[in-house]
Amino acid sequence: MPLPSLNLTSDYYTGAHPSLLWEMTICQSLGDGTGAFAKALEKPAAYGRLIADYLQQSFALPRECGEIVEIGGGYGTLMAALLEVLKPQQITMVDISPTLLQKQQERLAQHPITFQRKDIFAWLPTLKRPVDLLILNEIIGDFPTITGLSRASLQAHLQKSQTEPETLGLPSDFSPQELFADAARLISTYNLDLNNLPETFNLNYGALLFIERLAKTQVSRAFITEHGCDTVLPYPFSLYPAIQPESNNLNPRRIQLKDHDEYNIRFDYLEQVAKDLNFKVKRFHLMDILKVRFDDEINYLLTSQQPINEEQEILLEFYEHVAEYQGILLEQ
Ligand SMILES: C[S@@+](CC[C@H](N)C(=O)[O-])C[C@H]1O[C@@H](n2cnc3c(N)ncnc32)[C@H](O)[C@@H]1O
Repeated sequence: MPLPSLNLTSDYYTGAHPSLLWEMTICQSLGDGTGAFAKALEKPAAYGRLIADYLQQSFALPRECGEIVEIGGGYGTLMAALLEVLKPQQITMVDISPTLLQKQQERLAQHPITFQRKDIFAWLPTLKRPVDLLILNEIIGDFPTITGLSRASLQAHLQKSQTEPETLGLPSDFSPQELFADAARLISTYNLDLNNLPETFNLNYGALLFIERLAKTQVSRAFITEHGCDTVLPYPFSLYPAIQPESNNLNPRRIQLKDHDEYNIRFDYLEQVAKDLNFKVKRFHLMDILKVRFDDEINYLLTSQQPINEEQEILLEFYEHVAEYQGILLEQ
Protein backbone atom coordinates (compact mmCIF):
# COMPACT_ATOMS: atom_id res chain seq x y z
CA MET A 1 0.00 0.00 0.00
CA PRO A 2 1.60 3.35 -0.99
CA LEU A 3 2.01 5.54 2.07
CA PRO A 4 1.57 9.30 1.98
CA SER A 5 4.21 11.78 3.05
CA LEU A 6 4.10 15.04 4.92
CA ASN A 7 5.10 18.46 3.57
CA LEU A 8 6.66 20.50 6.35
CA THR A 9 8.02 24.04 6.41
CA SER A 10 9.24 24.13 10.02
CA ASP A 11 12.91 23.49 9.09
CA TYR A 12 12.79 26.50 6.80
CA TYR A 13 11.28 28.86 9.38
CA THR A 14 13.47 27.67 12.24
CA GLY A 15 16.55 27.77 10.00
CA ALA A 16 19.03 30.58 9.67
CA HIS A 17 17.46 32.66 6.89
CA PRO A 18 13.67 32.57 6.67
CA SER A 19 12.43 35.49 4.62
CA LEU A 20 9.11 36.76 3.35
CA LEU A 21 10.71 38.60 0.45
CA TRP A 22 10.30 35.61 -1.85
CA GLU A 23 6.60 35.08 -1.39
CA MET A 24 5.19 38.60 -1.43
CA THR A 25 2.50 38.13 1.21
CA ILE A 26 -0.46 40.45 0.73
CA CYS A 27 0.31 42.10 4.05
CA GLN A 28 3.91 42.83 3.06
CA SER A 29 2.90 43.98 -0.45
CA LEU A 30 0.61 46.61 1.00
CA GLY A 31 3.23 47.62 3.58
CA ASP A 32 2.26 50.80 5.39
CA GLY A 33 -0.36 51.57 2.75
CA THR A 34 1.62 54.16 0.79
CA GLY A 35 3.46 51.99 -1.78
CA ALA A 36 2.72 50.99 -5.36
CA PHE A 37 0.53 47.96 -4.51
CA ALA A 38 -1.72 49.99 -2.21
CA LYS A 39 -2.79 52.02 -5.27
CA ALA A 40 -5.01 49.07 -6.17
CA LEU A 41 -7.23 49.97 -3.21
CA GLU A 42 -10.14 52.42 -3.29
CA LYS A 43 -8.64 53.96 -0.15
CA PRO A 44 -4.97 53.00 0.17
CA ALA A 45 -4.25 51.67 3.65
CA ALA A 46 -2.09 49.19 5.50
CA TYR A 47 -3.47 45.64 5.56
CA GLY A 48 -3.76 45.51 9.36
CA ARG A 49 -6.01 48.59 9.36
CA LEU A 50 -8.35 47.03 6.81
CA ILE A 51 -8.50 43.82 8.83
CA ALA A 52 -9.26 45.77 12.01
CA ASP A 53 -12.13 47.63 10.28
CA TYR A 54 -13.51 44.39 8.84
CA LEU A 55 -13.37 42.58 12.17
CA GLN A 56 -15.22 45.38 13.90
CA GLN A 57 -17.91 45.58 11.23
CA SER A 58 -18.43 41.92 10.32
CA PHE A 59 -17.38 40.17 13.49
CA ALA A 60 -18.59 42.57 16.19
CA LEU A 61 -15.07 42.78 17.62
CA PRO A 62 -15.01 45.60 20.17
CA ARG A 63 -12.25 48.19 19.71
CA GLU A 64 -11.22 47.70 23.33
CA CYS A 65 -11.27 43.94 23.38
CA GLY A 66 -9.54 41.46 25.69
CA GLU A 67 -6.62 39.48 24.28
CA ILE A 68 -5.52 39.28 20.65
CA VAL A 69 -3.05 36.61 19.58
CA GLU A 70 -1.33 36.53 16.21
CA ILE A 71 0.26 33.29 15.08
CA GLY A 72 3.02 33.57 12.48
CA GLY A 73 3.15 37.34 12.40
CA GLY A 74 6.09 37.53 9.96
CA TYR A 75 7.66 40.98 10.22
CA GLY A 76 4.97 42.32 12.61
CA THR A 77 3.47 44.46 9.85
CA LEU A 78 -0.14 43.38 10.30
CA MET A 79 -0.10 43.81 14.08
CA ALA A 80 1.56 47.25 13.88
CA ALA A 81 -1.27 48.60 11.72
CA LEU A 82 -4.01 46.71 13.58
CA LEU A 83 -2.95 48.36 16.84
CA GLU A 84 -3.50 51.79 15.30
CA VAL A 85 -7.20 50.89 15.32
CA LEU A 86 -7.80 48.27 18.01
CA LYS A 87 -6.84 48.67 21.66
CA PRO A 88 -6.71 45.16 23.16
CA GLN A 89 -5.87 44.72 26.85
CA GLN A 90 -3.36 42.00 26.06
CA ILE A 91 -1.38 41.04 22.94
CA THR A 92 0.56 37.85 22.26
CA MET A 93 2.65 36.95 19.21
CA VAL A 94 3.44 33.25 18.72
CA ASP A 95 5.91 32.18 16.05
CA ILE A 96 8.02 29.12 15.33
CA SER A 97 10.82 31.22 13.85
CA PRO A 98 13.39 32.87 16.15
CA THR A 99 14.52 35.16 13.32
CA LEU A 100 11.02 36.40 12.49
CA LEU A 101 10.08 36.71 16.14
CA GLN A 102 13.09 38.97 16.60
CA LYS A 103 11.90 41.15 13.70
CA GLN A 104 8.44 41.34 15.30
CA GLN A 105 9.98 42.44 18.59
CA GLU A 106 11.87 45.22 16.84
CA ARG A 107 8.86 46.35 14.78
CA LEU A 108 6.48 46.33 17.76
CA ALA A 109 8.91 47.56 20.42
CA GLN A 110 6.62 50.34 21.67
CA HIS A 111 3.75 47.96 22.49
CA PRO A 112 3.41 45.77 25.59
CA ILE A 113 3.44 42.40 23.84
CA THR A 114 4.27 38.89 25.00
CA PHE A 115 6.35 37.02 22.41
CA GLN A 116 6.45 33.24 22.40
CA ARG A 117 8.65 31.07 20.23
CA LYS A 118 6.46 28.01 19.76
CA ASP A 119 5.01 25.78 17.09
CA ILE A 120 1.27 26.45 17.13
CA PHE A 121 0.56 22.74 17.50
CA ALA A 122 2.59 22.70 20.72
CA TRP A 123 1.27 26.07 21.95
CA LEU A 124 -2.48 25.72 21.34
CA PRO A 125 -3.09 22.85 23.81
CA THR A 126 -1.36 24.93 26.51
CA LEU A 127 -3.71 27.88 26.01
CA LYS A 128 -6.06 27.78 28.99
CA ARG A 129 -7.37 31.39 29.06
CA PRO A 130 -10.03 33.18 27.01
CA VAL A 131 -8.79 34.90 23.86
CA ASP A 132 -10.96 37.36 21.93
CA LEU A 133 -9.24 37.02 18.59
CA LEU A 134 -6.71 34.69 17.01
CA ILE A 135 -5.16 35.85 13.74
CA LEU A 136 -3.59 33.46 11.23
CA ASN A 137 -2.72 35.40 8.11
CA GLU A 138 -1.11 33.47 5.26
CA ILE A 139 0.23 30.75 7.51
CA ILE A 140 -2.05 27.69 7.28
CA GLY A 141 -0.53 26.82 3.86
CA ASP A 142 2.65 26.23 5.87
CA PHE A 143 0.97 23.74 8.18
CA PRO A 144 1.70 20.04 7.56
CA THR A 145 0.09 18.83 4.34
CA ILE A 146 -0.34 15.16 3.56
CA THR A 147 0.70 14.56 -0.02
CA GLY A 148 0.09 11.52 -2.18
CA LEU A 149 -2.99 10.14 -0.41
CA SER A 150 -4.39 7.31 -2.49
CA ARG A 151 -8.19 7.04 -2.62
CA ALA A 152 -8.11 3.29 -3.21
CA SER A 153 -5.98 2.70 -0.11
CA LEU A 154 -8.11 5.06 1.93
CA GLN A 155 -11.29 3.10 1.24
CA ALA A 156 -10.17 0.22 3.49
CA HIS A 157 -9.41 2.59 6.37
CA LEU A 158 -12.66 4.50 5.94
CA GLN A 159 -14.63 1.36 6.89
CA LYS A 160 -12.91 1.12 10.28
CA SER A 161 -14.02 3.32 13.11
CA GLN A 162 -11.26 5.77 13.87
CA THR A 163 -10.63 7.68 17.04
CA GLU A 164 -8.70 10.88 17.42
CA PRO A 165 -5.09 10.23 18.50
CA GLU A 166 -4.65 10.52 22.26
CA THR A 167 -1.49 12.50 21.76
CA LEU A 168 -1.76 16.21 21.16
CA GLY A 169 1.81 16.25 19.85
CA LEU A 170 3.07 17.80 16.64
CA PRO A 171 1.65 16.29 13.44
CA SER A 172 5.26 15.97 12.22
CA ASP A 173 5.85 13.34 14.95
CA PHE A 174 3.26 11.00 13.46
CA SER A 175 4.51 7.99 11.50
CA PRO A 176 3.29 7.59 7.90
CA GLN A 177 0.89 4.85 9.13
CA GLU A 178 -0.52 7.13 11.84
CA LEU A 179 -0.86 9.94 9.33
CA PHE A 180 -2.72 7.72 6.97
CA ALA A 181 -5.05 6.47 9.72
CA ASP A 182 -5.67 9.99 10.97
CA ALA A 183 -6.39 11.31 7.47
CA ALA A 184 -8.98 8.53 7.15
CA ARG A 185 -10.40 9.51 10.54
CA LEU A 186 -10.83 13.15 9.47
CA ILE A 187 -12.42 12.18 6.17
CA SER A 188 -14.94 9.81 7.77
CA THR A 189 -15.67 11.84 10.92
CA TYR A 190 -16.50 14.99 8.96
CA ASN A 191 -17.82 13.21 5.89
CA LEU A 192 -15.39 15.06 3.63
CA ASP A 193 -16.37 14.72 -0.02
CA LEU A 194 -13.78 12.84 -2.09
CA ASN A 195 -15.67 13.25 -5.37
CA ASN A 196 -13.92 15.11 -8.16
CA LEU A 197 -10.49 14.46 -6.66
CA PRO A 198 -7.75 12.67 -8.60
CA GLU A 199 -6.80 9.11 -7.55
CA THR A 200 -3.90 10.53 -5.55
CA PHE A 201 -4.49 13.81 -3.78
CA ASN A 202 -3.22 16.17 -1.08
CA LEU A 203 -4.91 16.95 2.23
CA ASN A 204 -4.48 20.13 4.31
CA TYR A 205 -4.00 17.94 7.35
CA GLY A 206 -2.46 20.54 9.69
CA ALA A 207 -5.13 23.12 8.86
CA LEU A 208 -7.93 20.64 9.67
CA LEU A 209 -6.22 19.45 12.83
CA PHE A 210 -5.79 23.08 13.87
CA ILE A 211 -9.57 23.61 13.71
CA GLU A 212 -10.19 20.49 15.79
CA ARG A 213 -7.75 21.71 18.41
CA LEU A 214 -9.11 25.25 18.29
CA ALA A 215 -12.53 23.87 19.25
CA LYS A 216 -11.04 22.69 22.54
CA THR A 217 -9.83 26.19 23.51
CA GLN A 218 -11.53 29.31 24.86
CA VAL A 219 -10.69 31.32 21.71
CA SER A 220 -13.92 33.08 20.75
CA ARG A 221 -12.95 34.27 17.26
CA ALA A 222 -10.39 33.23 14.63
CA PHE A 223 -9.50 35.12 11.46
CA ILE A 224 -7.75 32.93 8.88
CA THR A 225 -6.63 33.76 5.32
CA GLU A 226 -4.61 31.88 2.72
CA HIS A 227 -4.29 30.99 -0.96
CA GLY A 228 -7.32 28.83 -1.72
CA CYS A 229 -7.71 25.94 -4.16
CA ASP A 230 -11.51 26.39 -4.23
CA THR A 231 -11.61 30.15 -4.60
CA VAL A 232 -14.34 31.89 -6.59
CA LEU A 233 -13.75 35.53 -7.42
CA PRO A 234 -16.51 37.93 -6.40
CA TYR A 235 -18.36 40.06 -8.96
CA PRO A 236 -17.28 42.10 -10.96
CA PHE A 237 -13.85 40.41 -10.93
CA SER A 238 -15.55 37.11 -11.78
CA LEU A 239 -16.07 38.56 -15.29
CA TYR A 240 -12.37 38.58 -16.21
CA PRO A 241 -11.13 35.16 -17.42
CA ALA A 242 -7.47 36.22 -17.21
CA ILE A 243 -7.50 36.63 -13.45
CA GLN A 244 -9.65 33.65 -12.46
CA PRO A 245 -7.86 31.47 -9.90
CA GLU A 246 -6.04 28.87 -11.99
CA SER A 247 -6.11 26.09 -9.45
CA ASN A 248 -9.83 25.69 -8.88
CA ASN A 249 -9.60 21.91 -8.92
CA LEU A 250 -10.28 21.00 -5.27
CA ASN A 251 -6.88 19.34 -4.89
CA PRO A 252 -4.50 21.55 -2.88
CA ARG A 253 -1.68 22.66 -5.17
CA ARG A 254 2.00 22.76 -4.30
CA ILE A 255 3.40 26.28 -4.30
CA GLN A 256 7.16 26.23 -4.70
CA LEU A 257 8.95 28.93 -2.76
CA LYS A 258 12.57 29.55 -1.90
CA ASP A 259 13.87 26.54 0.10
CA HIS A 260 10.37 25.32 1.00
CA ASP A 261 7.00 24.43 -0.50
CA GLU A 262 3.58 25.24 0.78
CA TYR A 263 0.11 24.09 -0.33
CA ASN A 264 -2.97 26.14 -1.04
CA ILE A 265 -6.08 25.41 0.99
CA ARG A 266 -9.33 23.59 0.34
CA PHE A 267 -11.54 25.94 2.36
CA ASP A 268 -14.77 23.97 1.98
CA TYR A 269 -13.20 21.19 4.10
CA LEU A 270 -12.25 23.74 6.77
CA GLU A 271 -15.80 25.07 6.73
CA GLN A 272 -17.30 21.60 7.09
CA VAL A 273 -15.08 20.62 10.02
CA ALA A 274 -15.70 23.97 11.74
CA LYS A 275 -19.50 23.69 11.34
CA ASP A 276 -19.49 20.13 12.67
CA LEU A 277 -17.62 21.41 15.69
CA ASN A 278 -20.31 24.07 16.22
CA PHE A 279 -18.36 27.11 15.08
CA LYS A 280 -20.31 29.92 13.48
CA VAL A 281 -18.62 30.21 10.10
CA LYS A 282 -18.28 33.07 7.63
CA ARG A 283 -16.23 32.69 4.45
CA PHE A 284 -14.99 35.62 2.42
CA HIS A 285 -12.80 36.53 -0.54
CA LEU A 286 -9.89 38.79 0.31
CA MET A 287 -11.16 41.34 -2.21
CA ASP A 288 -14.20 41.77 0.07
CA ILE A 289 -11.89 43.14 2.72
CA LEU A 290 -9.36 44.98 0.61
CA LYS A 291 -12.00 46.93 -1.36
CA VAL A 292 -9.89 47.00 -4.50
CA ARG A 293 -10.55 49.65 -7.14
CA PHE A 294 -12.89 48.91 -9.99
CA ASP A 295 -12.81 51.82 -12.43
CA ASP A 296 -12.08 52.41 -16.14
CA GLU A 297 -8.34 51.93 -15.73
CA ILE A 298 -8.80 48.60 -13.93
CA ASN A 299 -11.47 47.46 -16.38
CA TYR A 300 -9.08 48.15 -19.28
CA LEU A 301 -6.18 46.46 -17.53
CA LEU A 302 -8.04 43.30 -16.60
CA THR A 303 -9.57 43.04 -20.07
CA SER A 304 -6.51 43.84 -22.18
CA GLN A 305 -3.83 42.39 -19.88
CA GLN A 306 -1.62 45.07 -21.46
CA PRO A 307 -0.11 47.33 -18.83
CA ILE A 308 1.27 50.49 -20.42
CA ASN A 309 3.64 51.49 -17.64
CA GLU A 310 5.32 50.11 -14.53
CA GLU A 311 2.55 51.28 -12.23
CA GLN A 312 -0.03 49.35 -14.25
CA GLU A 313 2.22 46.28 -14.26
CA ILE A 314 2.26 46.37 -10.48
CA LEU A 315 -1.51 46.86 -10.36
CA LEU A 316 -2.12 43.89 -12.64
CA GLU A 317 0.27 41.72 -10.66
CA PHE A 318 -1.61 42.61 -7.49
CA TYR A 319 -5.02 41.67 -8.90
CA GLU A 320 -3.67 38.38 -10.26
CA HIS A 321 -2.09 37.63 -6.91
CA VAL A 322 -5.06 38.54 -4.71
CA ALA A 323 -7.46 36.59 -6.96
CA GLU A 324 -6.59 33.26 -5.34
CA TYR A 325 -6.97 34.39 -1.74
CA GLN A 326 -9.84 33.71 0.57
CA GLY A 327 -10.50 33.49 4.26
CA ILE A 328 -12.71 32.13 6.96
CA LEU A 329 -13.97 33.66 10.17
CA LEU A 330 -14.77 31.26 13.00
CA GLU A 331 -16.73 32.10 16.10
CA GLN A 332 -17.50 29.96 19.14
C1 LIG B 1 4.16 33.03 5.11
S1 LIG B 1 4.62 33.75 6.63
C2 LIG B 1 3.27 34.90 6.87
C3 LIG B 1 3.69 36.11 7.67
C4 LIG B 1 2.62 37.15 7.92
N1 LIG B 1 1.49 36.59 8.63
C5 LIG B 1 2.18 37.83 6.66
O1 LIG B 1 1.00 37.67 6.26
O2 LIG B 1 2.99 38.53 6.04
C6 LIG B 1 4.30 32.45 7.79
C7 LIG B 1 4.61 32.82 9.23
O3 LIG B 1 4.15 31.75 10.08
C8 LIG B 1 5.20 31.30 10.92
N2 LIG B 1 4.96 29.85 11.11
C9 LIG B 1 4.99 28.88 10.16
N3 LIG B 1 4.64 27.69 10.69
C10 LIG B 1 4.36 27.92 12.00
C11 LIG B 1 3.94 27.08 13.08
N4 LIG B 1 3.74 25.76 12.91
N5 LIG B 1 3.73 27.64 14.29
C12 LIG B 1 3.95 28.97 14.49
N6 LIG B 1 4.36 29.81 13.50
C13 LIG B 1 4.56 29.29 12.27
C14 LIG B 1 6.47 31.66 10.16
O4 LIG B 1 7.61 31.73 10.98
C15 LIG B 1 6.06 33.03 9.58
O5 LIG B 1 6.19 34.06 10.53
